[in-house]
Amino acid sequence: MNTEELLARRKKHAAHSNLHYYEKPFHPVKAQGTRIWDADGKEYLDAIGGIVSISVGHNHPKVKAALKARFDEDGIQHPSVLYLSEPHVRLCEDLAAVSPEGLEHVMVTNSGSEANEYAVMAARAATGERTMLALKLGYHGGTQLTLNLCGHSTWKFKGQPFGEVAHAIQPDCYRCPFGKEKTSCGLECAKEVENTIQTVTHGKIAGIIVEPIQGVGGFVEPPVEYHAEVYRIVKKYGGMYISDEVQTGIGRTGESFFAITQSGITPDMITMAKSLGNGAPVGAVVMSEECSSALVGKTHFNTFGGDPYQALQAAMTLEIMAEENLMENIKVQGTFLKEGLLALQEKYSLIGDVRGRGLLVGMELVTDRETKAHATAETARMMEETRKRGLLIGKGGLFGNVIRLAPPYTITRSDCEEILRILDESFQALG
Ligand SMILES: Cc1ncc(COP(=O)(O)O)c(C=O)c1O
Repeated sequence: MNTEELLARRKKHAAHSNLHYYEKPFHPVKAQGTRIWDADGKEYLDAIGGIVSISVGHNHPKVKAALKARFDEDGIQHPSVLYLSEPHVRLCEDLAAVSPEGLEHVMVTNSGSEANEYAVMAARAATGERTMLALKLGYHGGTQLTLNLCGHSTWKFKGQPFGEVAHAIQPDCYRCPFGKEKTSCGLECAKEVENTIQTVTHGKIAGIIVEPIQGVGGFVEPPVEYHAEVYRIVKKYGGMYISDEVQTGIGRTGESFFAITQSGITPDMITMAKSLGNGAPVGAVVMSEECSSALVGKTHFNTFGGDPYQALQAAMTLEIMAEENLMENIKVQGTFLKEGLLALQEKYSLIGDVRGRGLLVGMELVTDRETKAHATAETARMMEETRKRGLLIGKGGLFGNVIRLAPPYTITRSDCEEILRILDESFQALG
């Protein structure tokens, strides 16, 4: 079916809230490794991986072979976790093995939103408190509760309740809401968390949910000490610390499997999805004994959570990462990419800030470096210009002015050079 016809049919019957990137929607039909082909046969380098989800590469041969073998053996397609299932148990074991010590119980879900729903439920059950803290600019999913946690008007609908969530001001070093400089800020943003608890709550909380780097918010990266200080405060008021690693987890930031450990703390729960399944719809919560046991005695059931095909793809992702030493590649290529972006920043005044870690790097575009006016229209044009040249990138930020790059972990040096060359040509085309 050609792209125009498909779009017309989608408009007729798909939900109105389904949005699409680009003026003329992109219609990918085939993918392999870091490459995607559209319906006209044009090849693209995928530097956003679906939406930060392709980790070991599109259609990895080992994943394909494992899935085919399971079908050929007529492996059970839907046992649910009410029955025993080997891929489910294997994934729980494998995730416990890569998680910080003390986080050894795993709830497998179908998405990041569900993982966050479960984690908040566990925090509330464990503490007997209802109030959750979250950060402005954070994104935690598209379900009712997780939308309550979000700090973005873009994603909220009319009539969306607030749902016993208090939001603290975001730790944004490029646009410090407290007017401070990163090197001498005194972590005002962390103090703000304590102030929120003291002023908005009754003095006790169920917990906090925080992304180590705010993904949808535009790869907003707090000082690394921020999380440790927030952890200390949250514990002082009796809450659970949930690290939402739907974007930053599964090695995406290079230095560690979960980004939060780079801040030297072990949270009570870590949630994940996206890169975990390399495109398969699977998420998870890894949690402490205290959080896991808080939900015992009641029935929690999720029909498809732990599905053998999705769990297998997630377990294969972890296996391939280890076999191909992809954590090292994330670090090496991520460093190269970020250096390249910093070099582009020297050349183009439109690039106000370059940030991120590993293969989660971005650029905030501004029309004026002094006023930091959001370059929203220019970012949309960059999306079009890069697409024309065969490169897929993402965008984010409250004002849609942050270019986001999150390519597959298998990306090579020459792929990175291609990304940088196309970005350079596209910035030039913007004039
Ligand atoms: C940090 C974060 N948490 C949670 C979610 C929700 O995940 P899902 O879309 O799989 O429900 C997202 C999705 O973008 C996310 O970026």
